[in-house]
Amino acid sequence: MTVLGIESSCDECAVALVRDGTDLLGEVVHAQIHAHERYQGVVPEIASRQHTQLILPVYREALQDAGLQPADIDVIAVTTHPGLSGSLLVGTTFAKGLALGLQRPIVAVNHVLAHLYAPNLITPVPYPCLGLLVSGGHTMITRMDAWNDMTVLGATTDDACGEAFDKVAKFHGFGYPGGKAVDALAARGDETAYDFPGAALKGDAHSLDVSYSGIKTAVTVQAARFLRPGSSASPENLAASFQRVAIGMLMKRLDRAVAQTGIHRLVVGGGVAANSRLRRELAARAHLDVAIPPLSLCTDNAAMVAAIGFEYATEGSFVGFDAPVGARVAGYRAFT
Ligand code: KG4
Ligand code: ZN
Repeated sequence: MTVLGIESSCDECAVALVRDGTDLLGEVVHAQIHAHERYQGVVPEIASRQHTQLILPVYREALQDAGLQPADIDVIAVTTHPGLSGSLLVGTTFAKGLALGLQRPIVAVNHVLAHLYAPNLITPVPYPCLGLLVSGGHTMITRMDAWNDMTVLGATTDDACGEAFDKVAKFHGFGYPGGKAVDALAARGDETAYDFPGAALKGDAHSLDVSYSGIKTAVTVQAARFLRPGSSASPENLAASFQRVAIGMLMKRLDRAVAQTGIHRLVVGGGVAANSRLRRELAARAHLDVAIPPLSLCTDNAAMVAAIGFEYATEGSFVGFDAPVGARVAGYRAFT
């Protein structure tokens, strides 16, 4: 079964073709970086207008990349939730038009589940396992009992981890996209130069929740206060110290989740999964069996949408032309 995946939930306009859930035949990802660069952040209206212009050429190029014709597509998988409504509408409307023209069924893909499914493109993930989703819009630790059965064990109470990276980068002019820029600067910095506080939440001893508002404020407006005596102030040191604490906060909750659940298998997904410090920290935990995708499958892409689309299609979860898009989702338990 050849599934066409369409991803347009944020600023990546992507189309991919995947055969039988694992065989990536072709993919094009257009990251819209230049369109948002001067604002140092994603502007929703600009993103949806960009998707309108990009979706058809990206689709054609992906087919060409795969060496396929439209008639070779068996199923159309499209991200319908969660994400930016206008952007989601472009991808979803395109999917519906294509489905009508080609007379093929549509599956509506949950973006969060797709991120946590991405490692399956490399090797099958055994369930149950823990899930660590770290992106620009979400930060959560979950229990996965199946590809579509997710229970949220802990989440951010405010900013997403990637959002904190982006805001720190924007405030200090580190570059755009922010997470990648902080990561690159941090590689040349002293991560102990600043003593930033990792947030302590109420009931923190057992909680798997995390908060980024405190460290974000510390790094953006009060950085000078946290410089250790004898250390030097530099963008590299600032970035490295922020990254150490931001990733350390996640690791603390993850270790807790492992201790609380007794589950040692982990899938990781989302843009921040590309972070070098996060990857190092996970690699150092020899007691964990970690499935983390290669960098191209961490940030938004359509391969993960087409791959999970195969699962939806196999169980017959098709949607009609009235399928809505959703900016947020209410709950994730057994959510498909
Ligand atoms: O999954 P994604 O592409 O989009 C969402 O679903 O949000 O994640 C984007 C986020 C952005 O906040 C970006 O700054 C962050 O992932 N990111 C990183 C790195 N690469 C991307 N954060 C830290 N280190 C990186 N290397
Ligand atoms: Zn994403």
